[in-house]
Amino acid sequence: MADAQGRQVFYELARRLRDNVARGLPDQADEILPVAAADYADEAQYRREIAQIFERVPLLVALSCDIPNSGDFVTHTIVGRPLLIVRGDDGVARVFLNACRHRGAAIIGEPFGNRRLFSCPYHAWSYDRQGGLKGVPDRETFGDLAGIDGLIELPSDELAGALFASLDVNATFTAREWLGDTLVRSLEALRLDAMYPYRVTSTIASPNWKLAADGYLDGYHIGLLHRNTIGVRAINNRNTYDLLGPHARIGFAGKGINQVDERPEGEWELGEVMSLVHYIFPNVSISGGHKDTIQLSRLFPGPDVGESTTVQHQYFYEPMTDDMLARAEEKRLVYEQVVRDEDCATIFTINDALPALARQQLVFGRNEPANQAFHRTVRELAG
Ligand code: FES
Ligand SMILES: [Fe+2]
Repeated sequence: MADAQGRQVFYELARRLRDNVARGLPDQADEILPVAAADYADEAQYRREIAQIFERVPLLVALSCDIPNSGDFVTHTIVGRPLLIVRGDDGVARVFLNACRHRGAAIIGEPFGNRRLFSCPYHAWSYDRQGGLKGVPDRETFGDLAGIDGLIELPSDELAGALFASLDVNATFTAREWLGDTLVRSLEALRLDAMYPYRVTSTIASPNWKLAADGYLDGYHIGLLHRNTIGVRAINNRNTYDLLGPHARIGFAGKGINQVDERPEGEWELGEVMSLVHYIFPNVSISGGHKDTIQLSRLFPGPDVGESTTVQHQYFYEPMTDDMLARAEEKRLVYEQVVRDEDCATIFTINDALPALARQQLVFGRNEPANQAFHRTVRELAG
């Protein structure tokens, strides 16, 4: 749980949500925003989004707590780039291409683990925890290895318990600049560095990545589409929206919002009062943090314009006991079902209608400012 300073972030949001409920309005944009339905199905547009967004901007590739110790690693592939993310003996987290410098085989096949040496399965070239080339079997038979001294490293930066990397080897960035001070403070309140991952994840098929992102950023549907599941304790459409550069923070009012007026802040049951989503552009949503867990959802654009995948992770503030593992598994199945059968099932119907809507505009309301900001950012970067 957050420390006293971090809790102020939640208290301030809870008060804003109370005010929005009292006035009967969410935070709003100035105008509605039309978006051409064809934008979601256009192959050339999609290629620009991959090249000018995913292959360029800093991406949240891991939480610090995924790899707390030297030698800890995680792997995943985003837009066709296989990544190997390792904490070195010097405590620095680095992001490498998971591709051997010999002939490109994947060094590591597992999604997570710990190694002293990273040894390629093909001809056993080995790399240390900093990515340096350590061993080449029968090196004297191989020839000159000048210029090949380790794995290909991508620019990365770790801040506020999250690790960012750019797929562009020549990029220069800092996580602070990319996030901005307000978002850094807000993420620090979540204490992402002090969490424990539940290593079982859910993978769910979704259509075009922007259709899926629209769902991640949408505070208008929680008490409607999810009225019988995760939205049962929500007050719909009274959200706070903080548009933080390309990123967004969305507060959701809960049915216990009256506690804000009835009790001192230290006694609010935050889980009843509110819930919270941080959207880290372009593809990660961090939900919760004001209670005992967070739910991290990562959106991977697929090989085709009409395909993406959502991977859901859970993190806890305490080491996982058997009891918590059982609870985490139950929760995983619930969230998987909600996202698959409610969110994704619905957005697949949008996807199916796109050809028929090819000349039409879809509209984002004044009460959907985070979606509006997302589409403006995508246009700015890849329009
Ligand atoms: S491809 Fe890795 S050692 Fe040959
Ligand atoms: Fe949803």
